[in-house]
Amino acid sequence: HSFDTVVRGGTIVTAADVYQADIGITDGKIVAIGRDLQEAATTIDATGLLVMPGGIDSHVHIAQPSGEGIVMADDFESGTRSALLGGNTTVMPFCLQQKGDTLREALKKYHALAEGNCFTDISFHMIVSDPTPHVLGQEMPALAEEGYTSIKVFMTYEGLRLRDDEILATLDAAKRSRQVVLVHCENEDAIRYLIGRREADGDTAPYHHATSRPIAAEREATHRALSLAEIVDTPIVIVHVSNREAMEEISRARLRGQKIAGETCPQYLVLTADDLDLEDFEGAKFVCSPPPRDKESQDACWSGLENGVFDLYSSDHCPFRFDDPGGKKTEKGMQSFRWIPNGIPGVATRLPILFSEGVKTGRIDLNRFVALTSTNHAKLYGLYPQKGTIAVGSDADLTLWDPELRKTITNDDLGHGADYTPYEGMEVTGWPVKVLLRGDLVMEKGVPVLGKGRGRYLPRKRSNLINGETSL
Ligand code: URP
Ligand code: ZN
Ligand code: ZN
Ligand code: ZN
Repeated sequence: HSFDTVVRGGTIVTAADVYQADIGITDGKIVAIGRDLQEAATTIDATGLLVMPGGIDSHVHIAQPSGEGIVMADDFESGTRSALLGGNTTVMPFCLQQKGDTLREALKKYHALAEGNCFTDISFHMIVSDPTPHVLGQEMPALAEEGYTSIKVFMTYEGLRLRDDEILATLDAAKRSRQVVLVHCENEDAIRYLIGRREADGDTAPYHHATSRPIAAEREATHRALSLAEIVDTPIVIVHVSNREAMEEISRARLRGQKIAGETCPQYLVLTADDLDLEDFEGAKFVCSPPPRDKESQDACWSGLENGVFDLYSSDHCPFRFDDPGGKKTEKGMQSFRWIPNGIPGVATRLPILFSEGVKTGRIDLNRFVALTSTNHAKLYGLYPQKGTIAVGSDADLTLWDPELRKTITNDDLGHGADYTPYEGMEVTGWPVKVLLRGDLVMEKGVPVLGKGRGRYLPRKRSNLINGETSL
């Protein structure tokens, strides 16, 4: 046989093209693309299906420590299983440096947790919470050379947030080591003040998570992060943008010539703050930061996906169980929203929501869908063209997508460790039916075909933004 596997009869979709062709795969790589490819040991029928590069979710939290007594609902097995069921072949979780730890110590923990347990390929962003001279001067440059080419910093969350001088020092170190920096933009002091006010007024229900994290707190921090990056002259990524005003800051920075990327997430397209107002504490199911906003903000985020303000559409999957004192229903969280762990599950539902609400409605085309869900993630984070496209020489990571399959989203189908999905009952059209990871059929009809442990750790090259590109 000429090929190990041929994917036959499908419609190939990349960020640039849509066309009919077969894909020949040998040793996990795409080795031929063409009509009527010859016999292979294995043939996968893709008739009537879209064949897309496997989804890359560059923003997920797995097994991340989240406070005393709180346990994230996914380990690497369940988190990557859920990703796979949702049509993803690569996810990029965060590796959290806890205060007092070195980056190496943090990496050792996460690699041990991930090793042998993943259904998809993975790669880590480092969260820098303690930017000591050793971290900035020794570890960051060394780790960058080893393939850890991105870091994240927080402007909010006590214990994680960096002050502006620390952010500047971290940006400067990232510039020297040629790493791209993701920034969580919310003004911690404003938020803490407002949380105190809400509690003093007796407004302690989950809904007040949203009222204590207003758009102005996100917009101001977005502007400040962009200004700090301009001062240091290094590229940053504004993650999980929820509203028009923060988007305007991104556009203004681009007009000034800054090299930046913007990301939004499903929760800002289809949820609103009203979801946090459900009774019986159900609003806690939607507590994440920044919080979902209003209809106008949803429309703005949709327009940003269409017009290029956003380069990335990620899940920010950060799952906690709802009916669990180690999850959303912590003893303290039931007393005040201040203590409800922030984050919602979404790695399995990311692609179907954008396809159904974006492609099927005509807001974005198929090429843009692939760019936003796969290609741009690979380019921004140094995985392209090994990942993120369908081309000779690329890894054979393919999602076979049924564009007409109608599904009602329900938690039982999602394979994650959370006991709920914020999208329960949502009707979508379009769903992944088969997934290949480096040439192996790993998912079929909502079931992992091969066991865990097929996923590999991916060292990465430098970001396209670092390599002189002005945009993805
Ligand atoms: O609420 C959220 N988004 N939790 C995850 C951590 C983060 O800020 O990305
Ligand atoms: Zn053969
Ligand atoms: Zn964040
Ligand atoms: Zn996040």
